[in-house]
Amino acid sequence: MAAPQSDAPISNIVIVIAMQTEAQPVVNKFQLIEDPHSPFTQGVPWVRYHGKYKDLNINLIWPGKDPNSGVDSVGTISSALVTYAAIQALKPDLIINAGTAGGFKARGASVGDIFIISDCAFHDRRIPIPVFDLYGVGSRKAFETPNLVKELNIKVGKLSTGDSLDMTQQDESSITANDATVKDMEGAAVAYVADLLKVPAIFVKAVTDIIDGDKPTAEEFLQNLASVTTALDLAVEQVINFISGKTVSQL
Ligand code: ADE
Repeated sequence: MAAPQSDAPISNIVIVIAMQTEAQPVVNKFQLIEDPHSPFTQGVPWVRYHGKYKDLNINLIWPGKDPNSGVDSVGTISSALVTYAAIQALKPDLIINAGTAGGFKARGASVGDIFIISDCAFHDRRIPIPVFDLYGVGSRKAFETPNLVKELNIKVGKLSTGDSLDMTQQDESSITANDATVKDMEGAAVAYVADLLKVPAIFVKAVTDIIDGDKPTAEEFLQNLASVTTALDLAVEQVINFISGKTVSQL
């Protein structure tokens, strides 16, 4: 992941959150307002909320509703696009991708847990040709935040990303090969763009469902979404309070 560019305190952050239900509590907590003059190209559903909190300019980017189906634009394509566009337009010192995830109980995850991610990789980009296989997996280290993890006492784990909420057997083998504790639909895509453009990125994931449990994933996810979002919102607040006044190398 990108090296810090300067020793100045972090002043400008971009938070990428895929779902409205996840984003709204953070918008409310920091009293962010929707930018009436969107920095994004006309016609895209992407929304920028922004505001000042302590010494930080906070930008929260929500990819918005898919124009065709009307649901949140979850997944790797939208998250990569908004991360690229937000970095170009807003030049952040740091990216935070926050959201919900599935967790493996066999690796210590429980519903409501918060994880800071150490590594991201994809589990649904299978290209069985030498070196293309590694490109497909696209493993990247998140920006390391040893002081943050220690101070906030948050679990650390690896994240595997794919464009499906459910999991095929092939996905499962790849997730195991990625040594992942949590599974989402955006993280590795955000990591890819942040790495390309050399912006440090960190990942805050809250567990809504147990992948290796006996409940159907979609049902468990929807059942826990509201309560786990409260835990996520609290974690994002703690992370932002920790970041305030620090340089990236102090994280
Ligand atoms: N987000 C929340 N739960 C998830 C899961 N099981 N898979 C992918 N993304 C998720």
